[in-house]
Amino acid sequence: MNCLVTGAAGFIGSALSEKLLARGHRVTGIDNFSPYYSETLKNANIRLLKKNGKFTFYRGDILRAELQQLIKGARYVFHLAAQAGVRNSWGEEFKIYTDNNILATQKLLEAAKEAGALKKFIFASSSSVYGDADELPVKETTPANPVSPYGVSKLAGEKLCLLYEKNYGVPASVLRLFTVYGPGQRPDMAFNIFIKRMLKGDPLPVFAGGSQTRDFTYIDDITEGMVLAARKSIPGEVYNLGGGNRISLNGAIKVIEELAGKKAGVLRKGEAKGDVKHTWSDISKAKKQFGYSPKTGIAEGLKKEFEWLKNLKNQQGV
Ligand SMILES: NC(=O)c1ccc[n+]([C@@H]2O[C@H](COP(=O)([O-])OP(=O)(O)OC[C@H]3O[C@@H](n4cnc5c(N)ncnc54)[C@H](O)[C@@H]3O)[C@@H](O)[C@H]2O)c1
Repeated sequence: MNCLVTGAAGFIGSALSEKLLARGHRVTGIDNFSPYYSETLKNANIRLLKKNGKFTFYRGDILRAELQQLIKGARYVFHLAAQAGVRNSWGEEFKIYTDNNILATQKLLEAAKEAGALKKFIFASSSSVYGDADELPVKETTPANPVSPYGVSKLAGEKLCLLYEKNYGVPASVLRLFTVYGPGQRPDMAFNIFIKRMLKGDPLPVFAGGSQTRDFTYIDDITEGMVLAARKSIPGEVYNLGGGNRISLNGAIKVIEELAGKKAGVLRKGEAKGDVKHTWSDISKAKKQFGYSPKTGIAEGLKKEFEWLKNLKNQQGV
């Protein structure tokens, strides 16, 4: 099967491409190497993929690429390209979010209208669309009230997918991903920052007391969920993909301390605007519809991320 993966040089897009290739699919990846984080890391993400004869990579921007050409012949589209990150989405920077999360999604959906072979268009949305929900765990029917401009941009992307499904029959399904971690994790995310600082002996920045909880989802569970969703999700539907690993940041720091064999120093910070207090997903819909069943517990997953970063530090001093 031919697959198009947008954001293929990113954390999740590269891991997903690897899984699709391992299962014998052909993958076309596009990524503009946005400057949000280092090009070195993105190059490392796709280094092995580029050696696979079934992988074709375009370095380019969805906003400017010949999308019809790119999407032609694709059976599955996995749309992961986006400007991630909650805290940077305020102020002037919001234009980066509207361009890459809303406008780029609309352009890709326009191209998908004409893609005759297309069986499924998977949109990577985010738990951020829920904001500070009144009920936990959140179901797909829980009202979406984002508390960050990033969350607003992802909700707009979702709505566009659902509109194009309804009006033009683009077979789009929406997956709401809950904090993804593991080897390859983006360098701006908490676990990556904590582990790197721990390895250097620097204190860990902890916002809002550290009692906030997240439903952490291991990278391999997410990519497995995305592949299952491509085959069996229902177009026009929204699904939570969480990990069943809900833990507070303070709890996660304890796990990292055990892995490092030492106590962490902590730099207490205030509340960060746009951060939600808690995330916790009800994944029964994805489980029932396409057999989604996350397998990796937090201790095992964090150990893998810890080892990855330790090796990276030894190799590159990153
Ligand atoms: N990592 C998480 O915990 C998480 C949680 C919820 C949702 N998501 C969503 O999953 C997707 C992937 O996230 P990630 O953590 O891998 O982020 P990432 O930043 O590592 O990957 C996104 C990639 O998209 C590329 N990109 C951005 N705009 C582009 C454009 N206009 N054209 C081409 N490429 C472009 C970037 O260069 C980057 O490599 C995003 O849509 C994000 O919103 C991630």
